[in-house]
Amino acid sequence: MSTYKIAVIAGDGIGPEVLQEGIKVLDKISELDGSLKLEYTYFPWGCEYYTKHGVMMDEDGIEKLKDFDAIFLGAVGFPGVPDHISLWDLLLKIRKSFDQYINIRPIKLIKGAPCPLKDVKREDIDMLFIRENSEGEYAGAGDWLFKGKENEVVLQTGVFSRKGTERVIRYAFETARKEGKSLTSISKGNALNYSMVFWDQVFEEVAKEYPDVKTASYLVDAAAMLMITDPKRFEVVVTSNLFGDILTDLGAALAGGIGLAAGANVNPERTFPSMFEPIHGSAPDIAGKGLANPLATIWSASQLLDFLGYEQYGKLVLNAVEELLVEGKVLTPDMKGTSSTSEVGDRVASIVSSLVPSSVVE
Ligand code: NAD
Ligand code: IPM
Ligand code: MN
Repeated sequence: MSTYKIAVIAGDGIGPEVLQEGIKVLDKISELDGSLKLEYTYFPWGCEYYTKHGVMMDEDGIEKLKDFDAIFLGAVGFPGVPDHISLWDLLLKIRKSFDQYINIRPIKLIKGAPCPLKDVKREDIDMLFIRENSEGEYAGAGDWLFKGKENEVVLQTGVFSRKGTERVIRYAFETARKEGKSLTSISKGNALNYSMVFWDQVFEEVAKEYPDVKTASYLVDAAAMLMITDPKRFEVVVTSNLFGDILTDLGAALAGGIGLAAGANVNPERTFPSMFEPIHGSAPDIAGKGLANPLATIWSASQLLDFLGYEQYGKLVLNAVEELLVEGKVLTPDMKGTSSTSEVGDRVASIVSSLVPSSVVE
């Protein structure tokens, strides 16, 4: 019997609704494989917690999380608490404290998923975004001078360290090599004349160690355009924190919608726990109505299973999502369906049972 301790932070808005469905699917996997036990500990942190206790997470929250095998997170942020407080004191705090410097976001048009582009072949949208997740534009450094005065000046400083830049680029090269794919770097050296010139330089340096990996490099504005007009150019992609944030929402729109896009915040050394979450937010406009699409969270549950070393189950969950989309019957309104969040979770769980080969059932 292998037991894994999972910290659950459902968070705000649709977070708890979608996370419940992710857990439903994980529970189905451990029910089918009696030797895999997932033990959940729920942390009630988020904006409601903030209004009651004045903090987004306990003072010793990071200490409380540090021995878990993984963190499963819904979404953070809700009107009433300023976004820069809710996010910096919970989600970004966890990413930084646990040095989750790799953010893996697949942009893959799986079978049955809708795509807004005409005449696109499914296999043409198959990107793996590797987003720098610990520094860059999200360094949290800056200053606010002469507040409220006529000469007011606000500084937001990007921080691109040699260590931080090199490790994400190297990770991306390793991934591309392992998967036999090309690697594209997305930057903006023409305008960001320090950070992105440095980024491009490091990319070129590291590339010399990987002569077998085909590379490309685009400016971020052109890359945004090419993702729409010629998505097949992009296979493995490495980019900075902010560019990765923006381009993966764009990518989500190409690959089935924001309700289907998942992300893993990984500490590759496994010194600290990694965190799995949908890439969307708390969607206050639809929260509490059973309208949220849980498939992004279910996909991130699949990433969690991969990370724990159960790739066969990660694949199974993704296959079940594909089958649900191909059936096209049990879908939430964002996918032009009429089903509820929990009906979609139920259907994925039941497809998982039907797909499981008898050989893995104990
Ligand atoms: P959002 O992703 O929450 O919502 C954008 C749009 O997509 C909304 O119309 C919403 O209804 C829709 N949407 C999102 N997820 C959906 C789902 N699963 N099913 C169906 N529709 C879905 O982005 P936003 O509105 O810009 O941000 C809302 C809050 O969430 C803010 O406080 C923001 O800071 C926060 N946020 C948190 C995270 C996170 O926790 N990882 C990510 C992004 C935004
Ligand atoms: C995401 C989110 C976060 C980010 C916000 C909520 C801080 O948009 O995970 O994509 O920008 O990283
Ligand atoms: Mn985002």
